[in-house]
Amino acid sequence: MLVEKVELESKSAWLLMHPRHTVLVTCVDGEGKPNIITLAWSMVTSFNPFMVAISVGFGRYSHDLIKTGREFVVNVPNMDIVGETLFCGRNSGRDADKFAETGLTPLAAKHVKPPLIAECIAHLECKVVNEMTTGDHTLFVGQVVSATVNEGIFDLGFDPGKIRPILHNGGDDFVTIDPNVVTPSRKL
Ligand SMILES: Cc1cc2nc3c(=O)[nH]c(=O)nc-3n(C[C@H](O)[C@H](O)[C@H](O)COP(=O)(O)O)c2cc1C
Repeated sequence: MLVEKVELESKSAWLLMHPRHTVLVTCVDGEGKPNIITLAWSMVTSFNPFMVAISVGFGRYSHDLIKTGREFVVNVPNMDIVGETLFCGRNSGRDADKFAETGLTPLAAKHVKPPLIAECIAHLECKVVNEMTTGDHTLFVGQVVSATVNEGIFDLGFDPGKIRPILHNGGDDFVTIDPNVVTPSRKL
């Protein structure tokens, strides 16, 4: 028997695109002071050159930093730092030094000014090559100039049993992959 379809209003319909893999994006101000913003809306947009896009709301402090600085780093957190990830998504760099308040550790990047976050498991250093307005957000497209990952968790894909990614499911709710229900197609 077919299931009835329920119509949703747009204020909640965006959650039909969640749970979404959540990342911590770093950027810097004019003096080089770093900020962290939590984003659920990011994606790969090109293999060659390798590009990613992030969607950042107009009102975010990070929006102005990325618009001006033209660089950002996409850091991939896991469930070990889900509390810090929520903090960076509920507080603004206008009022808080998020590195100081979370205790997360900045690590110098190779090719861009924004730092990596040491506690994250993977990092994409990006230079902004394009941007477009999409309603109330700006989609920043970054060309990836360096990609790094923690040793031992990646071999042509993450080992799903090891990473426990953070997937945002709306509000303050997160879910992760249960390694017990994953059937890896290959071994590391
Ligand atoms: C799990 C989660 C996901 C979020 N995803 C996005 C997003 O994709 N785009 C966005 O603009 N804001 C997103 N936010 C909101 C920003 O992270 C939040 O407004 C943050 O405080 C902005 O920080 P800033 O003012 O220092 O830039 C998200 C928040 C949370 C908690």
